[in-house]
Amino acid sequence: MPLHLLDHPLAAHVLTLLREKSTPPAQFRTLCHQLSLLLALEATRNLATKEKPVDTPLEPFNGRALARPLVVVPILRAGLGMVQSIVDLFPDVSVGYIGLERDHDTAQARSYYCKLPPLKNVRVLLVDPMLATGGSAVMALNVLTERGATEIDVLNIVASPEGVAVVEKAHPRVRIFSAGLDRELNARKYILPGLGDFGDRLYGT
Ligand code: PRP
Ligand code: URA
Repeated sequence: MPLHLLDHPLAAHVLTLLREKSTPPAQFRTLCHQLSLLLALEATRNLATKEKPVDTPLEPFNGRALARPLVVVPILRAGLGMVQSIVDLFPDVSVGYIGLERDHDTAQARSYYCKLPPLKNVRVLLVDPMLATGGSAVMALNVLTERGATEIDVLNIVASPEGVAVVEKAHPRVRIFSAGLDRELNARKYILPGLGDFGDRLYGT
């Protein structure tokens, strides 16, 4: 299984508040930020480091520094809600953007924007809060791999079993980090129990 589920009491607590339909956009954004921090920490647990000697005020110390560049790529629009958390943790991160929108009737993703930094020899975090049919994630992963990315983690807040299977089939080497694995998709391809339309709730649309 490529899926890594967050196993932390705070993640369960925050995700429950995100699901509650009366949670207003301001609180929704804060909760999204908290879960994104937890997801980013979990996904970057195995980042490579290299030796970095420093001088403390008292003596030399052989420390460690991050060894490779990190790139975060949100899938617009909802993925934007997860970016600042990663920039807070990794201030040197580069940010790329992939704009995708699901058609309301067919649930098929359509691409409308793409701007990416160089992707060779970097670690990429693809962030999008919802993994439903998996169509958007696979479309974004196809773009990233065509541009040379070889090490990609997908960070979601809620995933569906169908979405995980679709990503695994198309991109078996990609790891998926999620705060929750839900039951199923409904006829309109929304996640159940889910939390509704993430972008609409994040931006109050
Ligand atoms: C949502 C979500 C994902 C996509 C997931 O975006 O943010 O990008 O749906 O669905 P999928 O796995 O079935 O492709 P949406 O298309 O609603 O656009 P938005 O972020 O602009 O609201
Ligand atoms: N996109 C969302 O925002 N929510 C879902 O449940 C599915 C796709």
